[in-house]
Amino acid sequence: MLSDAETRHAARVQELLAAEIAAAAGWISFERFMELALYAPGLGYYSAGARKFGVGGDFTTAPEISVLYGACVARQCADVLRALGTGSIVELGAGSGQLAADILARLEALRQLPAEYRILEVSADLRDRQRRLLGQRLPHLIERVRWLDRPPEEPFDGIVLANEVLDALPVVRFRWYRDRVEELGVVIEDGGFGWAPRPASRVLTEACLRLRATQAAAAAGRDPWDEGYVSEYCPRLPAWTQSVTASLRAGAAFWFDYGLPRRQYYLAERHEGTLICHFRQRAHGDPLVHPGLQDITAWVDFTLLAEACRPAGFELAGFTTQAYFLAGAGIDQEMRSNAREDETAFARLANQARRLMLPGEMGESFKAMAWLRGIDVALCGFTLQDLRHTL
Ligand SMILES: C[S@@+](CC[C@H](N)C(=O)[O-])C[C@H]1O[C@@H](n2cnc3c(N)ncnc32)[C@H](O)[C@@H]1O
Repeated sequence: MLSDAETRHAARVQELLAAEIAAAAGWISFERFMELALYAPGLGYYSAGARKFGVGGDFTTAPEISVLYGACVARQCADVLRALGTGSIVELGAGSGQLAADILARLEALRQLPAEYRILEVSADLRDRQRRLLGQRLPHLIERVRWLDRPPEEPFDGIVLANEVLDALPVVRFRWYRDRVEELGVVIEDGGFGWAPRPASRVLTEACLRLRATQAAAAAGRDPWDEGYVSEYCPRLPAWTQSVTASLRAGAAFWFDYGLPRRQYYLAERHEGTLICHFRQRAHGDPLVHPGLQDITAWVDFTLLAEACRPAGFELAGFTTQAYFLAGAGIDQEMRSNAREDETAFARLANQARRLMLPGEMGESFKAMAWLRGIDVALCGFTLQDLRHTL
């Protein structure tokens, strides 16, 4: 049951989307629908005041589960900052600010604080939340935190990192047939929204054929996809990732998200795509309901990310699962030092570590990817498992 306020909010977002559809002669791409539903100023899911993360929110990210996550990311960042002598961190899409706070607190204890911790955040509401959280938890470090309105322009040394941001970039939805490719868009239907196809553009058709080609070897002569195969593609990922890392002169880019290498992503059996929506801690597959009240995400094609980073002068330094990243970055040591010989605290942390690391929880579906530019440094989180060959 929606509250009155939620019903009113969803109605306003629905009105905005309906006006956009009407202005576009009755059809908009799903990419545009997702963009407005998530980011329309003052109305979209991330732009308005919904609780979103953690208890009482719609979903829980790794930093919201445990301080151990940020502590391990901090240990990884410390490797890079130490090698550089000094540097800044730019976090993209910082959510509630929890990860930023945990990273800064741990780096302070490790005596490896960055010169600045900059946050690039699209949502004005979340910026306020981040400012409040960091101000309360680390008032003595707030001077080091700066919010950016656009990707950094001045060249800098340091780190760019993002946790669960790429999965929130709007995606195109396509449907494949032997004789054509369709783009699935959104229309008004029975007072709500419905799906409707249009012939795909040449660019989308070519992208789709490239994705399908990655399955050809496994299909052994058969057509790799059945008629009507549906999936997603993120056309803005390459330009966006390049723009947010362009001014990193020497340092590392760390991407944490759920997703797969392309060969596993576009498997025949995943024929309905990878869209997942989160509403009140429930995951489901219908992005057209509850506009503005629910999160909409798609898995990340890590091969696409690799194709974007490599020509930008980065070297792929590691690709692994979240479980192996955390193990390599010393989660066991973090548990011990955090619990300080208090057995109850240790049991609580062990429980959180299980949620972060078990294969049926976040351990395998979430991945960590590291890129280096202008430095060579051993990265503790990527020493135990190397999945680079799967890309
Ligand atoms: C799923 S949340 C993850 C939040 C946080 N990183 C965490 O792990 O808890 C996605 C975050 O990315 C932000 N975001 C999405 N697109 C963005 C963009 N183009 N630039 C900056 N932030 C963006 C959202 O506002 C939100 O803060």
